[in-house]
Amino acid sequence: MRVNHVGEICAQALYQAQALFSRDDTLRRHFETAAQEELDHLAWTAERIEELGTHTSHLAPIWWAGAFAWGSLAGLAGDKLSLGFVVETERQVEAHLASHLDRLPATDTSSRAIVDKMKREEAEHAEAALAAGALTLPAPIQGLMRAAAKVMTTVAHRI
Ligand SMILES: [Fe+2]
Ligand SMILES: [Fe+2]
Repeated sequence: MRVNHVGEICAQALYQAQALFSRDDTLRRHFETAAQEELDHLAWTAERIEELGTHTSHLAPIWWAGAFAWGSLAGLAGDKLSLGFVVETERQVEAHLASHLDRLPATDTSSRAIVDKMKREEAEHAEAALAAGALTLPAPIQGLMRAAAKVMTTVAHRI
């Protein structure tokens, strides 16, 4: 759940940065709305972490800053690529949440409900970005994003 929480820190930082650099007003509102939903996800995961009696990642400001930098790069690349970045990010998050659901005990209904709802909303975020005209990112960029996500999930699991 701590990894999911870090994911949501990153998600809202990405969307905030992308909203900031977007050249189109409608799209900016789209990114801002998505950032708001990621804030809900952030709250749900934080609450569950507290209930489980553990702590959120100690590196929160670093995750936020890193994601904001990625989001800024995506935003500067132009709106269509920025949307493509959303599609790829949300699909990776969705896949991560699906694998987390597989690993969560059937008895942990509270965690399962949160992860399941987030997974559905991340899929909607990807669909919305596609509908808004997202371009597919080049394979090397997708690979780089997967590598960055791997570092994030591995480190956030521990600290
Ligand atoms: Fe999210
Ligand atoms: Fe999302």
